[in-house]
Amino acid sequence: MSVLPPGSAIPSPFQVFRLVRDPMRFFEGRRRRYGPVFRAPVFRIAWFRPPREVFVATAELAERVYATDAGGGRAGETRRDFMAPAVGEHSLLSLDHEPWQRHRKLLTPPLRARTIAGYRDDIGRIAAQNISQWPVGRPFPLRDRMQEITLEVIMRLVFGITDSERLDRLRPLLHTLADPGGPYTLMLMSAAARDRVLGSRLLRRMPFLPTTRFLAARDAVDELLYEEIARRRAEPQENATDVLSRLLAARDDEGRPMTAQELRDELITMLEAGHETTATGLAWTFERLLRNPQVLGRLRTELDRGQEGYLDAVVKEGLRTRPVVYAAPRLLDAPLELGGYRVPAGWAVGPAIPLIHHDPTAFPEPCAFRPERFLGDGAGAANRSWMPFGGGRRYCVGAQLALLEMRVIIREVLERMDLTAEDPEPERPLIRHVTLVPSRLTTVTARPRAGM
Ligand code: HEM
Repeated sequence: MSVLPPGSAIPSPFQVFRLVRDPMRFFEGRRRRYGPVFRAPVFRIAWFRPPREVFVATAELAERVYATDAGGGRAGETRRDFMAPAVGEHSLLSLDHEPWQRHRKLLTPPLRARTIAGYRDDIGRIAAQNISQWPVGRPFPLRDRMQEITLEVIMRLVFGITDSERLDRLRPLLHTLADPGGPYTLMLMSAAARDRVLGSRLLRRMPFLPTTRFLAARDAVDELLYEEIARRRAEPQENATDVLSRLLAARDDEGRPMTAQELRDELITMLEAGHETTATGLAWTFERLLRNPQVLGRLRTELDRGQEGYLDAVVKEGLRTRPVVYAAPRLLDAPLELGGYRVPAGWAVGPAIPLIHHDPTAFPEPCAFRPERFLGDGAGAANRSWMPFGGGRRYCVGAQLALLEMRVIIREVLERMDLTAEDPEPERPLIRHVTLVPSRLTTVTARPRAGM
């Protein structure tokens, strides 16, 4: 079989324009027209050539893609170019083969559900403190507040920084570093062009450019993190539970510790991969809850009774109906047979997560926001096709932390506040970097909950 997957003959720039204008319509239109395996330009836009990127739209096909993690597919390579300016060369996101395996073994234990369970109260305190400063009776974008909370979680529980003066210095710098506005232009360049720009002295003299601000923030963050790493190495705290402390104590199979540069790169990786994504997942879940009052009502009742099973299902349904990351691509080293087509080596192939999450065979009435599908008898089938965190060996290493944060933060908000949507119309997904964000960043009005 040597048939290439079908795809539109329209030049890539026009297709990308359509994707950016309405990502859900774009993906749904492709599936309707071409079936569950199709070509579309998204990650590696070859402007004047037909795209060498393939998407799949069912969980079974996605599993075949994830299976290439064992050999034949490289996830790191698809992310390297656009992540490198921020995360450096030693990042779990962009490594492949043995170096990736070594890092994955080191990063997995500190992020396991059991290890991070102790963060619950700290996350609750961080959220409560933030909520106490929300404007009352005046609309504001909830996603920004969620981002402040998830940034604080990264600084305190992942980096383990407790000193308030250091936190105050780091906060605005990390905010700039994580803003895709800065490195976005860098991401679109070839590696050689990007290195020339990054090394340019002229650029450093133009502080008004987002790229220059990004570079200045990166330098300042690096200085702070290297200082922190050196200080903690010199005075190890035996009972510290933050992720950095655990990584400092970790040893690889040869008994080697991580180098300071590896630690720095992985800390920035967890910031880049873990703070906006979790904040967006929270914003979407609130956006859906506010358009589904009966679900919100049941959630409140269950939480007031001290039960968390329904909360867990709400978080899952939030990430299903509005997956934050829309694709998890692999670059193929060997051809891959998919649904009767053959994807050649050198092409990128990935699940279109929003399509998989709206597959009516796995999720009947896929557009309905119905957490009950993750409870009871049907839950097994729903869970098998649920993949907001990707899959295979490259499955999101921070998934358990993200889920814990979402559960704790939703609970803290609902205990304290009544929220109303500024506009009852649903918010549309917009592409931002590799994520889909709500078009009005979940604009809400908050009032203290009756009786609080
Ligand atoms: C709701 C929040 C989050 C979502 C939706 C999300 C989603 C994803 C997805 C789709 C992938 C790609 C998986 C694949 O290629 O199969 C991924 C990878 C990754 N995520 Fe997350 N993520 C979230 C939170 C986090 C957090 C909190 C952290 C860290 C603290 C994190 C760290 C990472 C890293 C390091 C990788 C690369 C893993 C590897 O290649 O081995 N993520 N994430």
